[in-house]
Amino acid sequence: MGLKFIATGAGLPEKVLTNADLEKIVATTDQWITERTGIKERRVAAADQATSDLSVLAARQALESAKWTAEDLDLIVVATCTPDHLFPSTACLVQKALGASKAAAFDVSAACSGFMFGLTAVAGMMEAGVARRALVIGADTLTRFTDWKDRGTCVLFGDGAGALLVEKTAGPGGLLSVHLGSDGALSGVLTIPGGGSRFPLGSNDSQHPPYIHMEGKEVFKYAVLRMIEAAEAALKKAGLKPNDLALFIPHQANLRIIDAIAKRMDIENKKVFRNVHKFGNMSAATTIVALDEAVRGGLVKRGDLVELVAFGAGLTWGAAVLRW
Ligand code: ACO
Repeated sequence: MGLKFIATGAGLPEKVLTNADLEKIVATTDQWITERTGIKERRVAAADQATSDLSVLAARQALESAKWTAEDLDLIVVATCTPDHLFPSTACLVQKALGASKAAAFDVSAACSGFMFGLTAVAGMMEAGVARRALVIGADTLTRFTDWKDRGTCVLFGDGAGALLVEKTAGPGGLLSVHLGSDGALSGVLTIPGGGSRFPLGSNDSQHPPYIHMEGKEVFKYAVLRMIEAAEAALKKAGLKPNDLALFIPHQANLRIIDAIAKRMDIENKKVFRNVHKFGNMSAATTIVALDEAVRGGLVKRGDLVELVAFGAGLTWGAAVLRW
């Protein structure tokens, strides 16, 4: 059996927060943010927009492109670390909004790598005969968990959602290989300490706020190392070399991380996708929004080989080689 990738979609908030806007909020400069991260602006969800709302925007766009209806879906997986609620899952809220009454729905939590874990879960469930037509979404609203007084993190993140429609096929599939990994021993370097069952909201615990805590230098080092390892391992499994790819889509967290990976893997510059300047780090949405932009912009055509690679809290990482 194989998988066919049918269509993509993106759901992005309208509100744009520029580096100049951030200069008015914290002691930072456009120059610092640009030189250290490559980010110029990011999107921020409106007060009444939660992760499921952005997910639904992305899903509707993908369904329209595919000419599928919500009733065609038998599985919905949302990769997110910023769900609307602890329960029900964001996937169930997406199901309700779309009217996808025949679909089973659940969430996957692997932070910025979530889309790779979600896609792999969908592939496994199709292999197991659970589903034929699936919607896999990567979506996050990390600005809701941002300390706007912490200049070390508040300049980095943005909100968004991306969607991919996948169909089971009898012939050879479009998902050529996957490589996933985790290192829970490093869970403390990138975490939202409060707001879960360890330090619940309302416990007045100022030591464990419900905001992103990141040890930037540590995360940077592991992001480069693990994404290279994952990208190379997935290519090897598929029997491919980096320059066999039409497009390489690395996690868009920091331009310096992207450039370091591309250099070490010796991938032609024009094959390395970059949109971090426009959106910042959208966590699980990052790689799928990038794929959507690449497909709609004609950078990826039917039959092209594409690799996605991501890295995030957990720590977690994952790479997937696709034939579009
Ligand atoms: N504006 C101005 N100065 C700043 C800012 C800012 N926004 N942020 C930090 N600084 C200062 C620091 O205070 C420090 O000053 P000091 O030397 O006087 O103490 C100086 O700039 C250098 O700070 P560093 O943290 O050492 O800067 P670095 O070069 O490491 O860049 C950054 C920081 C951009 C966060 C980088 O470490 C990074 O990108 N890390 C990886 C992030 C990532 O990949 N995340 C992916 C996963 S995210 C997820 O899963 C949710």
